[in-house]
Amino acid sequence: MKTPKVITTRADLKSAIREANPASLGFVPTMGALHSGHGQLFAQARAENELVVISVFVNELQFNDVEDYRRYPRTLQADLEVARAAGVDLVFAPEPEEIYHAGKPLIRLDTGELGSLYEGASRPGHFDGMLAVVSKLLHLADPGRGDYRAYFGQKDAQQLMLIRRMVADLDYPVQIRAVPIVRTENGLALSSRNALLSDEQQASALVIHRAIELIAGRAARNEPLHLDDAVGLFQMEPDVELDYFVVVDPDTLQELAFNCQDTPFTGEGLILVAAVVGGVRLIDNQPI
Ligand code: PAF
Repeated sequence: MKTPKVITTRADLKSAIREANPASLGFVPTMGALHSGHGQLFAQARAENELVVISVFVNELQFNDVEDYRRYPRTLQADLEVARAAGVDLVFAPEPEEIYHAGKPLIRLDTGELGSLYEGASRPGHFDGMLAVVSKLLHLADPGRGDYRAYFGQKDAQQLMLIRRMVADLDYPVQIRAVPIVRTENGLALSSRNALLSDEQQASALVIHRAIELIAGRAARNEPLHLDDAVGLFQMEPDVELDYFVVVDPDTLQELAFNCQDTPFTGEGLILVAAVVGGVRLIDNQPI
């Protein structure tokens, strides 16, 4: 595989895309600290497009906690190796001033009610800040002709839904592709934040997957879900602080009040879970 070209300015990104003049462009925005979950996104983009562009940019606007932003892993050299192995063509790795050249944007996208649930409730402003950068990046990587696709992981289910809504509601000329969650052998969903966990904390974090499996198993057998049992598993892990464990409608993300407790589960749902392990926030989900 050839080494991807690293670009740091929006002008250079535009001219590299113009020069390549691709029939199709696959774009994968990331915050770096790349792992094999990102590798899946790149692989799908590679399989479906002539030119693959990724961005590596830790977006301060989507962090509601300065300390979380400060300690977010930054590993550009290792990231370039992951990108090279996946056959990425262009890596856009700008400094914050290049993206927010006029300071923090005055005009923001408002993610509304959907953005204030779950992750939005625990991280006020997170989704508005996330859409601010995704919106910009989708414009910057837009080839202006041919097929344009952008790839996002299903692990961030609420983020994915908000991006889909932005693209549909505001007519962005890009197709959004969702890529399934990648897990360790033990079931921990891959996340850049896992690098911040000790081995013991990673072992404790496996309760997330155990709880999901418990409820997904019941759903598959059309049994009552008894979500309290999943919550109980977290109570047995003192290192893990559960934020939420809910079953929602996959189309609206509204909590399924019916059939989750005492009546047999039927239909479709999405388990959403967030927990904090050693100060590190982890999220996961599974359709049922
Ligand atoms: O999912 C992420 O890594 C980020 O939220 C994204 C989409 C790259 C925007 O900063």
